[in-house]
Amino acid sequence: MVERPHVPVLLDAVRECASAAAGEVWVDCTLGFGGHSEALLQAGARVIGFDRDAAARAYATDRLSPHAERLTIVASDFRRLPTVLAELGVERVDGVLADLGVSSWQLDQPERGFSFKAPGPVDMRMDPAAGEPALALIERSSTAELADVIRRYGEERFAGPIARAIRAWVEGAGPHDTHTLAQAVRDALPKREAAKRKIHPATQTFQALRIAVNDELGALEDLLAALPEVLAPGGRALIISFHSLEDRLVKHAFAEWCGKAGHAPAPPRGLPPPPSAPAAFEAVTRKPRVGSAAEIEANPRARSAKLRAVRKRRAA
Ligand SMILES: C[S@@+](CC[C@H](N)C(=O)[O-])C[C@H]1O[C@@H](n2cnc3c(N)ncnc32)[C@H](O)[C@@H]1O
Repeated sequence: MVERPHVPVLLDAVRECASAAAGEVWVDCTLGFGGHSEALLQAGARVIGFDRDAAARAYATDRLSPHAERLTIVASDFRRLPTVLAELGVERVDGVLADLGVSSWQLDQPERGFSFKAPGPVDMRMDPAAGEPALALIERSSTAELADVIRRYGEERFAGPIARAIRAWVEGAGPHDTHTLAQAVRDALPKREAAKRKIHPATQTFQALRIAVNDELGALEDLLAALPEVLAPGGRALIISFHSLEDRLVKHAFAEWCGKAGHAPAPPRGLPPPPSAPAAFEAVTRKPRVGSAAEIEANPRARSAKLRAVRKRRAA
């Protein structure tokens, strides 16, 4: 078994906001290496854990074996949450946790193709048995389509030149690995821009390709659409995001459920505002919880982590 392949982020904040208890049923949408699930199981809850990565499921099965009788591991994208719960005969759950994105272990395996640190296949699939690898996506995309992916999912200012460089790279002789792709991206940036960046100049482009290959934002949207129905009264939803595209979706959905999105139209002059239905949810975190300086020092992945949590109100 790999030694500490992934250190869970914001573990204390997750414990606190989840306040899981014996007899409760929780869903961990992103089981990974089981760090967060372990905390829920230690609190006495039953856990249904999703992961689309077979290696993560195998590790978590082993690590969480002392709690096996209260753990169900599901090999599926979490966007199928309502269908899977119906298949398991579970009507509503007391909590849902999602710790989005990829694990440190996935990033560190050159053969998975997420990282430019060592040469590997340009793959980036969380489930290497499903969907198309990033290289296939690049091969079938026009320069304009590539630029759109890099601009939208990588929030990259130089998406145009980078997309042109990637097309030239894929049409060239190769080798077509993560290392040469990262070089092509770096070379597409103006020299001063590449030197100025605190992170590797290919980081945002790799993020964009990974999000597109795994349809990460589509999966999050589906999860958010399902949560209000899936949670029992009193149930909590906790989502940890790692970049602004994810966080924006979570923030807006939670605000809407808590009755805070937008403003109701002003009543006609002189009339009191119409009575509004009480919001179905209340905030557990008023502001997102972030890592302490000590946690970020020990686990750099915590630097961009934001935890937001809401609770479904019990009927009055
Ligand atoms: C950040 S890691 C989770 C780490 C975990 N919380 C822990 O403590 O070890 C994210 C995991 O979720 C999985 N994942 C991401 N998106 C998914 C999705 N849409 N459906 C199922 N699994 C997903 C990834 O394969 C990865 O193993």
